[in-house]
Amino acid sequence: MTKIVRIEDMPQYVGEEVTLRGWLHHKTDKGRLQFLQIRDGTGIAQAVVFKRNVSPQAFKSARRLSQESSLIVTGVVRHDSRAPGVPGGYELDVRDLEVIQFAQDYPITPKEHGIDFLLDRRHLWIRSSRQWAILRIRAEIIKAIRDWLDDHGFLLVDTPILTPSAAEGTSTLFPTDYHGTPAYLTQSGQLYNEANIFAFGKVYCFGPTFRAEKSKTRRHLQEFWMVEPEIAFCQLDELMEIEEQFVSYIVQTVLRERANELKVLKRDLSRLEAVQPPFPRISYDEAVEMINKAAAKGETVPPNDEPVVPITWGDDFGAPHETYIAMQFDCPVFVHHYPSEAKAFYMEPEPDRPEVCRSVDLLAPEGYGEITGGSERMSDPELLIEAIRKHHLPEDAYAWYIDLRRYGSVPHSGFGLGIERMVAWLCGVDHVRETIPYPRMLNRIYP
Ligand code: 4AD
Ligand code: MG
Repeated sequence: MTKIVRIEDMPQYVGEEVTLRGWLHHKTDKGRLQFLQIRDGTGIAQAVVFKRNVSPQAFKSARRLSQESSLIVTGVVRHDSRAPGVPGGYELDVRDLEVIQFAQDYPITPKEHGIDFLLDRRHLWIRSSRQWAILRIRAEIIKAIRDWLDDHGFLLVDTPILTPSAAEGTSTLFPTDYHGTPAYLTQSGQLYNEANIFAFGKVYCFGPTFRAEKSKTRRHLQEFWMVEPEIAFCQLDELMEIEEQFVSYIVQTVLRERANELKVLKRDLSRLEAVQPPFPRISYDEAVEMINKAAAKGETVPPNDEPVVPITWGDDFGAPHETYIAMQFDCPVFVHHYPSEAKAFYMEPEPDRPEVCRSVDLLAPEGYGEITGGSERMSDPELLIEAIRKHHLPEDAYAWYIDLRRYGSVPHSGFGLGIERMVAWLCGVDHVRETIPYPRMLNRIYP
């Protein structure tokens, strides 16, 4: 038995006989030479089957191979800088080949397919190179997130998925029945994170979150993954410092660890290399002014040359507004001090100017939109009760949350980073539907 190796490890085995196990990605038939592109999940390698080097049976099988047939091949690893697939150029000089199953009529062929056709076949589409690269980068982003937080004193504390109350507004709740009482799928673990900091100081939760978003956009999913760090004794400036270190680390780690995948996606790396702290910071007021100047000049934003329309102070930004602001900077940009009315109930108002709150959103460059949302949290119990009433939220459901302000309340802050937005930005993918293995969208829950 020869050693079974993974395609990404092939460079370590030059001159040795090894076995690869995988699926046929593509084949070029040159008569006595069959060039097989084999994928095994870690990469794609070329396996060269020369009639003279294999048994007649093995050669016949190689000729018959169709896309996505499963197979095991044994051969000698050769270095050839011209060989496609494995970075640096490595291929397999095949000595034996065994087909496990001949796949028939695989529906996703190298020709162009429509997006609905592909989404209906998402269970197969994830095998394609582009999707493979995106989902490998997603996993790397998640690893970088966990590594950074674990190494910077944040404790992972899991928060519930089934919850009795809203964290981010009642209009996007997914209701469910909890043995006769109404319950909702969580929109955010933040409120529980706020309890957890009083026990552990710095915490984070990471999991799926749910929003019944009623509109179709390229940035919204019904189910998305969010990492939410929360920090005791932390105010807005420090929060921004944490965020810029954290986001830069993720970007630089992906550049280093997933260069091959970024190449598959033809990502412009120079834009990502520029992401280094500190990030620019502008207030909501300044952003409004920038937008209204641009609107007056008739400026438009990519990808569809949408006009930058004027904005009234107090309104939330639309996607073209965010894109316009982000386009003015090389790094992600912080927009802080949004109008209190436009934000969630728990945000700390600015004491001298309560119409704005100590909130901060981070907008990604190149028009990928808001990647994090965060704030300083209200720490006064009376102010919080007032805010809960003002937002018409059921006070009893938040009794425990108000309690946190009664036993050693401290200034504290946190933020949430949407994984799919981060993946879309780093991969240069214009719609979040490709950034999660099985997207849940307004009109889609299959497969
Ligand atoms: O700005 P959001 O709603 O903030 C919160 O949920 C806070 N409780 C977080 C916190 O302070 N702990 O969401 C945070 C991020 C957004 O910036 C965005 O990246 C992402 O989550 N996000 C979505 N991603 C995909 N689909 C959706 N429907 C999203 N809604 C928010
Ligand atoms: Mg937000």
